[in-house]
Amino acid sequence: MGELIAVLSGKGGTGKTSLCAGIAAALAERGEQVLCIDCDVGLQNLDLALGLSNAGALSFLDICRGAYPLSAATRHPKYPNLAFLTAPVNCRAEDIDKAAFSDMLRTARAQFRYIFLDAPAGLDAGFQLCASLADRVILVTNGDAAAVRDAARTAQILEGMGKHDVRLVVNRTNKKLYKTMCLTVDDVMDEAALPLLGIVPNDPNVTLATVFDEPLLKYTKKGAAAACRRIARRIQGLPVPVSIR
Ligand SMILES: Nc1ncnc2c1ncn2[C@@H]1O[C@H](COP(=O)(O)OP(=O)(O)O)[C@@H](O)[C@H]1O
Ligand SMILES: [Mg+2]
Repeated sequence: MGELIAVLSGKGGTGKTSLCAGIAAALAERGEQVLCIDCDVGLQNLDLALGLSNAGALSFLDICRGAYPLSAATRHPKYPNLAFLTAPVNCRAEDIDKAAFSDMLRTARAQFRYIFLDAPAGLDAGFQLCASLADRVILVTNGDAAAVRDAARTAQILEGMGKHDVRLVVNRTNKKLYKTMCLTVDDVMDEAALPLLGIVPNDPNVTLATVFDEPLLKYTKKGAAAACRRIARRIQGLPVPVSIR
């Protein structure tokens, strides 16, 4: 039975989509069957982060409505184990038929080991849909005070929803900046009151990879790509220590 992992944050622009793509690719690289679903209806960009901007992928709505079988989801040309469904453009999150979406995920659980839901920013319908269905949540923040506060609030909301497997990823860490801000990853963890799944450094390759329509992990082995690979191994339950210095 596959596991459903929602990638969430209260605040926009923290790196949900980039990390969803990087971690999913890392798991596929390790031989796992992975499905990535862009749930950011109207603003989809997971295709870009996966290096699939020209793939003309089906949307999850195409599957939910029964127009295509799940097996028609786009297969990544560079990761045969990685399938992808984009978000529909002309749709609002509140109009998604939750029963049909859940049915599609039930089928997906039988075919994939990990199913990633790349959620929209905010706490509205798209967030609720992804969070309510998830087995595990990856909550992405960066060191900005606003993002950390939003992560703390989001963590409380998730707790209220009965979500117990919620782990934090601190994205875009920068030693120099953290020093100037007198900030540590410990502080971020304390404020969000969540266990840490990983730390991802600020790395211009995340943006550059999308410019060249390459998946991050094919573009570089270092920095954020290496961090995504470590996170993937932790998701598989392997003991990979997190260094917070
Ligand atoms: N670790 C990182 N280092 C540098 N830039 C990053 C990193 N993570 C994300 N970004 C950049 O930040 C911006 C927002 O990232 P994105 O993944 O779209 O966030 P979200 O999905 O949370 O809105 C993008 O331009 C992306 O390239
Ligand atoms: Mg996004």
